[in-house]
Amino acid sequence: MELVIEHLTKKYGEKVALREFSYTFTPGIYGILGANGAGKSTLMNLITDNVKRNEGQILWDGTDILKLSASFRKLLGYMPQQQGMYSDFSARAFLRYMADVKGLNRKQANRQIEELFELVNLKDAAHKKLGGFSGGMRQRVLLAQALLGEPQILILDEPTAGLDPKERLRLRQYIADLAENRIVFLTTHIVSDIESIATDVLLMKDGALVRHGTPDELIQSVQGKDLEDVYMAYLGGS
Ligand SMILES: Nc1ncnc2c1ncn2[C@@H]1O[C@H](COP(=O)(O)OP(=O)(O)OP(=O)(O)O)[C@@H](O)[C@H]1O
Ligand SMILES: [Mg+2]
Repeated sequence: MELVIEHLTKKYGEKVALREFSYTFTPGIYGILGANGAGKSTLMNLITDNVKRNEGQILWDGTDILKLSASFRKLLGYMPQQQGMYSDFSARAFLRYMADVKGLNRKQANRQIEELFELVNLKDAAHKKLGGFSGGMRQRVLLAQALLGEPQILILDEPTAGLDPKERLRLRQYIADLAENRIVFLTTHIVSDIESIATDVLLMKDGALVRHGTPDELIQSVQGKDLEDVYMAYLGGS
């Protein structure tokens, strides 16, 4: 189970959103840290094939994901940063719909959906329409749909945005539990979201990977006391 990215580049016109990005991902939690505009979502959108790359390769166990196409997409769970949602759907109807889109077996999906509602603490609101949900509740519905089908690669683009401290903590602990035998991407600009759970932290700036390592390695490299110091040392100048 290996996702190898080589020299991946994405341009929007003259703007280089991602520059020669290379990294090998094996099961674990990867904290992708960077300021607004650093290229985090662009990287996630390239892995999900939502945007077209200009150069480079993304290989899943040796085969480019563009070749694998639908069979690769089946392995993905994606929680997008933007909250476009179906306001007239109830949360449960939305998850059922997403399970259909993913081609999951209905009976199994329905059972998993109820487990997921429990997990994201929305059991009592599952029958209500998404249009009436708060921002944090929507985040949790988006997380739940990403987890449908037990994906081997889980992409969480700013999953904690808009969550209150209690839900943020719950989510963090939950993500830590999820990491076994899967590759989890977690983008954020909030250092504390990944400090305790990331196996590796990737620091991005202006579309480039500027540094990576375990939280401890990075903290030592700047002789700091926490990842906040690491962030300021490597990314603080922008
Ligand atoms: N659809 C697009 N069209 C033009 N430029 C884009 C587009 N999407 C992203 N960009 C540019 O690419 C760069 C990287 O954007 P990206 O969304 O990947 O950053 P990010 O690290 O996810 O930021 P944030 O923390 O704000 O989510 C930015 O300069 C952005 O303006
Ligand atoms: Mg983003």
